[in-house]
Order: sequence, then C-alpha cells, then structure tokens
Amino acid sequence: MATGTAPANDAFLRACRGLPVKRVPVWFMRQAGRSLPEYRALRGEGSMLEVIARPELATEMTLQPVRRYGVDAAILYSDIVVPAHAVGFGVDIVPGVGPVVEQPFREARDLNRLPPLDPEADTGYVLETVRNLVAELDVPLIAFAGAPFTMASYLVEGGPSRTHALTKTLMYRDPHLWAELMDRLADLAIASIGSQLDAGASAFQLFDSWAGTLAPDQYRRFVLPASQRVFSELKDRHRDSRAPGIHFGVGTGEFLELLAEAGADVVGVDWRVPLDDARKRLGPETAVQGNLDPAVVLAPWPVVAEQVTDVLDRNAGRPGHVFNLGHGVLPETNPEVLEQVVELVHGYQAAP
Ligand code: CP3
Repeated sequence: MATGTAPANDAFLRACRGLPVKRVPVWFMRQAGRSLPEYRALRGEGSMLEVIARPELATEMTLQPVRRYGVDAAILYSDIVVPAHAVGFGVDIVPGVGPVVEQPFREARDLNRLPPLDPEADTGYVLETVRNLVAELDVPLIAFAGAPFTMASYLVEGGPSRTHALTKTLMYRDPHLWAELMDRLADLAIASIGSQLDAGASAFQLFDSWAGTLAPDQYRRFVLPASQRVFSELKDRHRDSRAPGIHFGVGTGEFLELLAEAGADVVGVDWRVPLDDARKRLGPETAVQGNLDPAVVLAPWPVVAEQVTDVLDRNAGRPGHVFNLGHGVLPETNPEVLEQVVELVHGYQAAP
C-alpha cells in the first residue's frame, strides 16, 4: 500500500536484509537536532511538539542532516512521545530534559487515557511530513516508534529516570495491569509505525532505549511479549512492502539474542559489545546496526578514525551491517567530524 517509488540509494535496505552492498551504509541516530547550526537556526523556542506538528518544518529538519552528511537513510523528525501525546495522555517535551508527563500512569483507570490511535485524524501532520519526504528523498525513510517498555517508563515515571524504580514497582505489584499497559503501548506503536509505512517509509526502528535497565529474565517475562507483537503484526500487515525492522536498545548487551527473538531483522548494538561478538552471538541471519561510542566522535580525529575502522574491521566485510553510533549524536558533536566519519565509512574496503 506504500506510496511513492523505491529510493535510488538502496544500500541501507540491502544491508538490513543481509544482502551484499558496494559500500557500508551509514546513518546516525539523532542526526537531526542540536548538533546542527542549521537546526538551531530554524528551531525557535517553544515545545518540540509544535515543530513536529508543522510538516514544512519537520520535513526540512529531516532533510538537513541528509544533505549535510550524505547519509544512506533519513529518519523522520518526530519523537517517540508523539502518539501518546496525540491520543491525549498529556505529555510534553521540555528542552534539555526530555519527555515530561503531568499526571503519570498509576492505576487501571489511567488506561482510559491511552485509547487507540487513529493515525490520520490524530497525527495527520506526521503523515503529511512522511509523504513530503518520500517525494523528495533518494534514500530510504526510516519510520519509528518507542517500544512499549521505554514508553511505559516515561508514562509511569513522569519523566526521565535513572533507576526506573516506579516502573519496576508497577511490574511486580500488578503484573496484570502492567501487561495491559504494555498492550496499549504496543497498539500505539503498531498503529503509528504502520501508518508511516503506508505513507511511504521503507523501514522502521523500534526504540527501546531504556530496556537496558532490566535483567534478561525481567525483559523476557515483562517486555518481550509486547515487543514481539509489534514486530509480528507489522510483518503481517506489511508483508508486501517487506519493510525491514530494527530493534534498538542501550545497555541491552546481556540480552541481544532476545532483541532478535522479538522478530527484528536488524539488532541495534551499543558500544559496550564488540561488533564481532555481537555477530557471533546473533548468527548470520540477523543484521546488526552500530556501534561507535557517541562520545568517541568528540576525540581528536586520529582516535575517531581508528575507532571507526575498528568497528568496520570487526564486521570484516560481512553482509548485514549498517554503520551507526551506539546511541544518539550528542548535542556537543562537531558536525564536520560526522561528515568525515561518513566519508571514511563509505571509502572503507574490508581486507580480503
Ligand atoms: O534525528 C533523529 O534521530 C530523529 C528524530 C528523533 C528525535 N527523538 C528527535 C529529538 C528520534 C528518533 C527520537 C526518539 C526518541 N525520543 C528517543 C529514542 C532515541 C534515543 O535517543 O534513545 C527517546 C528516548 C526520546 C525522548 C527524548 N526526546 C529525549 C530524551 C529528548 C532529549 C531531551 C533534551 O533536550 O536533551 C527528546 C527531545 C528531542 N527529540 C530532540 C530531538 C531533535 C531535541 C529537541 C529540541 O529541543 O530541539
């Protein structure tokens, strides 16, 4: 059902599918945003949600890093809290803080504040941005949503948290309510990503940024079933488009295999796991994305070059690698260094 034509540069999609590529594809999580002077010039004050709600601005924010860096994929300028905001849960994004919820999720009746998402009616502006982008881009557009656990952590904690104590408390105190919450959040992710794919995006990433706060057993019992449903329903509904799915987490090295088991084509690897180890553990059927430490690009160039090359050498020319940072671009990053990283990745040839 996707609109538009296939993007001219298909290296990213081929790598996601484990197919050989002429050069390793690269993009950066948070490639749009405060590290770019052209972003700061356009951003203005106010909530990021207001920028997202203006398709002409959100389109431009998405295109800025693609133009500057020559990356092999674009990621929609939006945020993981958009669907929860759009159904009226009551969440905002505070600059320098992140998502903030006025009335955190506490009890069963809070489920009423998470009704199903009607993507066209509730997030028509996002879909307009996607359609604009697909008409203009010659690289694939990545759709995304927050994974049920990471979304729950914001809604339950009320904002960013170091320990996720309230979230874990709810999990153990009322496993039934927890499962219902995870179900609602899985539905939001499915509806949101599904609508972005229908509007023409050609891959998707499920961000479980804070799942690394869990032990493998906690993840398997309390999180995996909901994330598994996100991948399986999207696969079923979008069988024709064959849009690859990326499953990303930070600090999730202890249970990389479970991220794959959820149904991902590509597993995001942070900098804590050497890429060759990750590939050995996941096997040849699962592609990987990563995994340069985002802080390394703040170092002098010879260090950056050595570390970028180390990541590439560890993959050793095998198909199924998308180069990225292990997490998002830090705001203090010099964009010129990222330009050089892209050049280095694109020029890399694995030793025969
Ligand atoms: O370039 C991109 O990657 C595209 C867009 C994108 C944003 N947020 C833009 C953004 C994506 C994919 C996200 C997802 C997101 N949002 C995640 C998962 C990714 C990750 O980093 O783990 C999470 C955890 C959030 C929640 C969130 N939103 C945080 C923690 C913050 C940063 C708060 C801050 O100001 O330091 C945001 C705001 C945000 N999301 C910005 C951008 C460009 C900064 C916006 C601004 O104020 O201009």
